[in-house]
Amino acid sequence: MASIRQLDPIVASRIAAGEVVERPSSVLRELLDNSIDAKATKISIYIEEGGIKSLTVIDNGVGMDADDLLLACESHATSKVRSLDDLFNLKTLGFRGEALSSIAACSRLTISSNGNSITVDNGKKSPVVPGSIMQGTSICMEDLFENIPARRLFLKRPQSEASECRKTLIEKALGFENIEFLFFSDGELKLHFEPTDRKNRSVQVFSLDKSFVPAQILQMSYKGENESLWAVCSDPGCHRRDRTQIRILVNNRIIDSYQFVQAITNAYSAALPGGAFPYFHLFIDANPALVDFNIHPTKRECKLRNQSAIYGAITTMIRNALVYKKADTVETPQLFSEVREAPARPYIAAPVSKGSSKPSIAQNSAKPFDSSWFESAKAILSKKDNASGQQKESPAKPQETPVQRAPSVVTTTRIIPEYRYIGQVFNTFLVVEMEDKLLFIDQHALHERLLYDEIRALKDLQRLIVPYSFEVERSVDDFLIKNSFIYSDFGIELTRREDLVWDMASIPAACRKNEEEIVSFIRNQTGDLESVQKGLFAIIACHAAIKAGDPLDNVTATSLVKRCFELDRMVCPHGREFTFSLSKQELYRQVGRIV
Ligand SMILES: Nc1ncnc2c1ncn2[C@@H]1O[C@H](COP(=O)(O)OP(=O)(O)OP(=O)(O)O)[C@@H](O)[C@H]1O
Ligand SMILES: [Mg+2]
Repeated sequence: MASIRQLDPIVASRIAAGEVVERPSSVLRELLDNSIDAKATKISIYIEEGGIKSLTVIDNGVGMDADDLLLACESHATSKVRSLDDLFNLKTLGFRGEALSSIAACSRLTISSNGNSITVDNGKKSPVVPGSIMQGTSICMEDLFENIPARRLFLKRPQSEASECRKTLIEKALGFENIEFLFFSDGELKLHFEPTDRKNRSVQVFSLDKSFVPAQILQMSYKGENESLWAVCSDPGCHRRDRTQIRILVNNRIIDSYQFVQAITNAYSAALPGGAFPYFHLFIDANPALVDFNIHPTKRECKLRNQSAIYGAITTMIRNALVYKKADTVETPQLFSEVREAPARPYIAAPVSKGSSKPSIAQNSAKPFDSSWFESAKAILSKKDNASGQQKESPAKPQETPVQRAPSVVTTTRIIPEYRYIGQVFNTFLVVEMEDKLLFIDQHALHERLLYDEIRALKDLQRLIVPYSFEVERSVDDFLIKNSFIYSDFGIELTRREDLVWDMASIPAACRKNEEEIVSFIRNQTGDLESVQKGLFAIIACHAAIKAGDPLDNVTATSLVKRCFELDRMVCPHGREFTFSLSKQELYRQVGRIV
């Protein structure tokens, strides 16, 4: 082994920088933190080529004098913390005195503040020279990793880096609603957040998502001894197929917390369809003495001393605020008698004021998802494939009798009652007369359920003429390397073209023209396999189904009704009942008749 030697300071600083600076968005996060700590009320961001070529942050905060400029890019140089005690009573986002020195170690950094300017080029400092006399600070980073080609290789394409920067800005803007933020990419204004209050900033952020419905907003709060919780979220009627709109902030800083996201999704699970997630911004204001952000280089994780109390508080807050009826406690109407030969399949919804002077810089030292039906379906499929040794079958057309149906996972024998199909109303409901009641069937939900059962039993592929290429995050890349088989089980063939880039070559025929939604789903999945399977099924079946408002001809409608009566439970793939019955008695009562 070679003998031990102390590293050259430039090499050492570049190694250390690797922890803080991964890509342009990490630089942006640090510069925004600094502007916020400097009590800025307006922050403008300009990026070029996704921030790889240049990234500039201009604020109107308290600024720095010439002496501070000289120290700002030194390692462990901060005005925010003096002693260890300060670390446990943090009122600022920065505390390590490492960010600027890390950025300056791997790019060309120019800082202009209060009439002075300094440039540090890949760790080499130039003297302070006169600069802009504008109030505040302007920090410009250029040519990230130009001198570290190995790290440059890990950067994504400029467009993807730009969207990472946009995401970082949105997350910061969420925590600091009283600050105005402007974001320009390659000379174009892409985002503008006006100062407002917490609720409206949340709505501004949710509204960047096209499917968000602003009217559907709930607010909830909880006051504990050492923490208070406040949340803005969507009503259960408005939801997404991924968790990207669930954000958690502790003392205004966004954090990644698998545990808290679980608490949110679990508390919501009975109110939402399977594979659906709410829009949810959770603000946790905790006593700084009980929070430690100094456990992760990018400060995206924190240790909370009362973590389990907060977990419980989240659950209680959400459950108390939501008025819903649990999907799994809904009674299915007893329309027919049935002899069960196997247990029922689960269709369960898954579970600062400005102007204060600033200290100078000192150098310091639910319910578990049952996948058995999926396994049985796969077993049936593989048996069938092996037996025939032939090509995959085409999708089942609406079947006329139960005997011709696609193989079912659970065999049930039922006595179908006498009924008469009356017709379609509002182009949405199929109405059926039975012995002593009228039954209204939601045509979309019924068809969705039937498709869902077909997709589970059959594989029908649509080959794409040109494979759909898409880029993924590192975590998703790792997930796909190990688990892409779960997509191929449903006809979604994925191949890894290069690091972080995947090609989709086929999709289930039922999802024709919905490649984008499938890809968006794939790009957001790193979780447990069962929820991925469940979410995927729900997307596939939901798209192909007849919609509410579609007029239906009699043949189609009667075939649908017939198949409806063959189901074991009249619930959609999301676990919701899709029929409503009105008794003869009730009808008579309404007009004052006696049955
Ligand atoms: N935009 C700014 N306005 C005013 N002062 C700034 C600005 N940016 C940086 N500074 C000063 O430079 C110092 C060093 O910044 P740097 O980001 O490196 O460290 P920090 O913010 O103290 O801690 P951390 O490494 O955790 O971010 C800060 O403590 C602050 O005094
Ligand atoms: Mg900082």
